Amino acid sequence: MAFAGIDLVEEILELKKQRNAVILAHNYQVKEIQEIADYVGDSLGLSYQAAKTDAEVIAFCGVHFMAETAKIVNPSKRVVLPDLDAGCSLSESCPADKLEAYLKANADKNYHVIAYINCSAGVKALSDVICTSGNAVKIVHAAPKDRNILFVPDQNLGAWVMEQTGRPMELWKGACYVHVEFTRAAIEKIRLEHPGAPVVAHPECTHAVRILADEVCSTEKMITYCRASEAKKFIIVTESGMLHRLRREMPDREFIAGPTDKCACADCRFMKMNTLEKLHAALLNLEPEIVLPEPLRRRAELPIRRMLELSA
Ligand code: 13P
Ligand code: SF4
Repeated sequence: MAFAGIDLVEEILELKKQRNAVILAHNYQVKEIQEIADYVGDSLGLSYQAAKTDAEVIAFCGVHFMAETAKIVNPSKRVVLPDLDAGCSLSESCPADKLEAYLKANADKNYHVIAYINCSAGVKALSDVICTSGNAVKIVHAAPKDRNILFVPDQNLGAWVMEQTGRPMELWKGACYVHVEFTRAAIEKIRLEHPGAPVVAHPECTHAVRILADEVCSTEKMITYCRASEAKKFIIVTESGMLHRLRREMPDREFIAGPTDKCACADCRFMKMNTLEKLHAALLNLEPEIVLPEPLRRRAELPIRRMLELSA
């Protein structure tokens, strides 16, 4: 069984070998999981990794829709998620039955549906193409010019993409409960305390916060932006796990967590449900496993493949 600290890490690495598993982790995972993972990245990078792996088991340390995406693109693999309750408020804000009813009631609009990857397989199956924060601008630019676009489920990312592309879109009124916690007042205050430090924000933040940012980008692009910058200090306005990744990759720079009105940083309670102990159990028992009905999987795969091709 699991021991604390170093033994637990060794056991996980041993089990990983025995199971022929790959450990994929999102940038918001706790430090200990990021350190043990084979790959740490954003939703887009993780999708590519999941699609191309030849490991037999994918231990996905992220939230449910991410592990589900891995299963959709690589169905012959066993995909395990350390905590099956690791959901996402954005995904929950757009249930598939509500989207289906909306599309039926508005059939005359002949919507081209662009779904942010933070959604269920059911929503993906109703969509024309998927996007992530890393490729949303490219995907919207590539949308047919003669169609109305319905963008689901994140209204903040959708509004940012409209600003970037000039393309009007109808936006589903969903939001990430973590990123809407950042306020203009809190970010203005921290900026005054660190003059000259660029503010780097995720596009799931509100407009009031995005306009204060020097750069708005996906979590992976935060790495490239900071690496290319001459600045020594940055204010990072996204979930707190991102700070581990940045500090690990650039130990010579200083990264300050963007605060909210209530806290010095923002945690996603879903992302933080995964622990080393649960990862160990998942590799040992090969569950909780992501299982999907094949017709749904096949239908949901089409818009993801379209995305992967468009952003290659
Ligand atoms: P990224 O794809 O930018 O990593 O974002 C995923 C996410 O859940 C942001 O809240
Ligand atoms: Fe979902 Fe927000 Fe958590 Fe990302 S940070 S997984 S969008 S709830």
